[in-house]
Amino acid sequence: MPIVTLAGSPSATSRSRSRCMLNYVKQRIGATHGQLSSFALDDFDPAALVQGRWDDPGVVALRDAVAAADAVVIAPPVYQASFSGGLKLMLDLLPQHALTHKTVLALATGGSDHHLLMLDYALKPVLSSLGARHQLAGVYASPLHIEKTADGRYRLGESVRERLDEVIDELIESLAPVAKSRTRDLARLALA
Ligand SMILES: Cc1cc2nc3c(=O)[nH]c(=O)nc-3n(C[C@H](O)[C@H](O)[C@H](O)COP(=O)(O)O)c2cc1C
Repeated sequence: MPIVTLAGSPSATSRSRSRCMLNYVKQRIGATHGQLSSFALDDFDPAALVQGRWDDPGVVALRDAVAAADAVVIAPPVYQASFSGGLKLMLDLLPQHALTHKTVLALATGGSDHHLLMLDYALKPVLSSLGARHQLAGVYASPLHIEKTADGRYRLGESVRERLDEVIDELIESLAPVAKSRTRDLARLALA
């Protein structure tokens, strides 16, 4: 059960709240389920992202990994009341139905709770336009839920960890039927 993660923050892993949530999800899923392929902005040639270079090797690797995945976990920070432009650059490099038949989970962090609805009003329509019909309830966290430690790293609070645990369980449970429908589609294609 291949799973792809997309980190939408330009900040380094250790200094990013959204990557802190994503890393927790990756550790829990990676320990027991599936092969994880992780993509972050710094994995790409910036020119390839900005110019939408479809044939760039990093971009091809992203598209291939998403095509093979049963689930995609997306973790952007909130920028200007929406999700980060860096995540949009990655999503813009996917084909139109890239998320069809995949379980999609979004994790977002903002500077406060004011833009909590960004998940529903900004991100969800974009994911739907990429074919995502099975979107799990996203998890949103602010500095109240993810505290900074003395060494400048981030630590998840109890409440956000509980919410992540619930949604990770849902993600894992959803994978069996998703894998089944993909197999069914492949079988139909083979018969056509
Ligand atoms: C350019 C920029 C714009 C931001 N705009 C918002 C915003 O509109 N609403 C909000 O709640 N937080 C906003 N923030 C705060 C970030 O969402 C917040 O610090 C988040 O935790 C950053 O995630 P990261 O640590 O994974 O990069 C903004 C931060 C930056 C750098």
